[in-house]
Amino acid sequence: MAKEDDLGSDASDLSPDSGSDQDFFNRDRHLCYLQMMLGVLPTYYQVEDINRITLAYFAVSGLGVLGGLHLVDKEMVINWVLSLQAHVKDETELESGQFYGFHGSKSSQFGSSNSEGPILNGSHLASTYCALAILRTVGYDLSLIDSTPILKSMRSLQQPDGSFMPIHIGAERDLRFVYCAAAICSILENWDGMDREKAKEYISNCQSYDGGFGLVPGSESHGGATFCAIASLRLMGLIEDDLFTKNATPNFIDVPLLLEWTLQRQGRDGGFHGRLNKPSDTCYAFWVGGVLKILGAQKLIHKKSLRKFLLTCQTEYGGFSKTPEMLPDLYHSFYGLCAFSLLEETGLPSICVELGITNR
Ligand code: FPP
Ligand code: ZN
Repeated sequence: MAKEDDLGSDASDLSPDSGSDQDFFNRDRHLCYLQMMLGVLPTYYQVEDINRITLAYFAVSGLGVLGGLHLVDKEMVINWVLSLQAHVKDETELESGQFYGFHGSKSSQFGSSNSEGPILNGSHLASTYCALAILRTVGYDLSLIDSTPILKSMRSLQQPDGSFMPIHIGAERDLRFVYCAAAICSILENWDGMDREKAKEYISNCQSYDGGFGLVPGSESHGGATFCAIASLRLMGLIEDDLFTKNATPNFIDVPLLLEWTLQRQGRDGGFHGRLNKPSDTCYAFWVGGVLKILGAQKLIHKKSLRKFLLTCQTEYGGFSKTPEMLPDLYHSFYGLCAFSLLEETGLPSICVELGITNR
């Protein structure tokens, strides 16, 4: 009888018809799933129409992680993404406090139907991050983007405490949007869009007593928020990569405590969860595994059991579900694939963890 370690080592085991969906990483089915999602979305994604660019980011960037960008009509994608950029009619509009980035879809490009409605420009920090991530993934020359309005108007989204709002009015402000702002500046290679010192102060204030980070100061530690904190610091050049192995501990966050909290997120079933007492969930293999990778501590992950857990979330339709034996969704499929790249699955390109895209 084959040892568990030997399973899948014979090339004949890799044919799609042999074994169950959970025996091997089924690259071909993931390619089919993402290609299909890039063409037509199932009806239940209707409610996400406003976030269409985020869904496109999962599909395009996911195809990148699978080494399948030849399946993407790059010109069509580029033209569509560029059509979502918000433009100013004249320079004085940049002083209005509104943000001129990218819209999530055409539906937010039309002004409010209420003539007294306050929001005439629905561009959003998360949509802007996704737009730029897509453009970079498909090889668009980003120097062609009119980035001055994006960066200039982004500054007015930063709050006195260093956090960011994603739009100019009435929204939450937390670490997610600090991360989006840092990723935007990093992709555009221009940090005029934010005050990094202020952002650093805010991030440091979000570290909790247990070592993890909450979305806002004083809130419960969470894997997603912890990723946003550490990836932002790395993008801003405020922490070194591999600081665990280099022993290069910064003085404004507690790295040993962070490491302890992060490692405790791997459960007995091998998967990662986002916060205490929650079940393992595919996406946290990336959010939390990504933090360990940035810190240079990925060798402390129990890789074999994580891979096994992730395979229980790989579905017969291609893609990944949140928890075992559920239906796939684009969000968990994308982050599941990123996790396989972090686990150095044979044939997968490496990813730039802090930007959530394949390395150039
Ligand atoms: C809790 O949802 C979710 C959060 C507190 C947000 C976490 C942040 C991220 C996932 C990062 C976002 C990244 C970008 C690029 C903006 P939940 O209660 O449904 O999740 P849980 O039960 O798994 O904790
Ligand atoms: Zn999840």
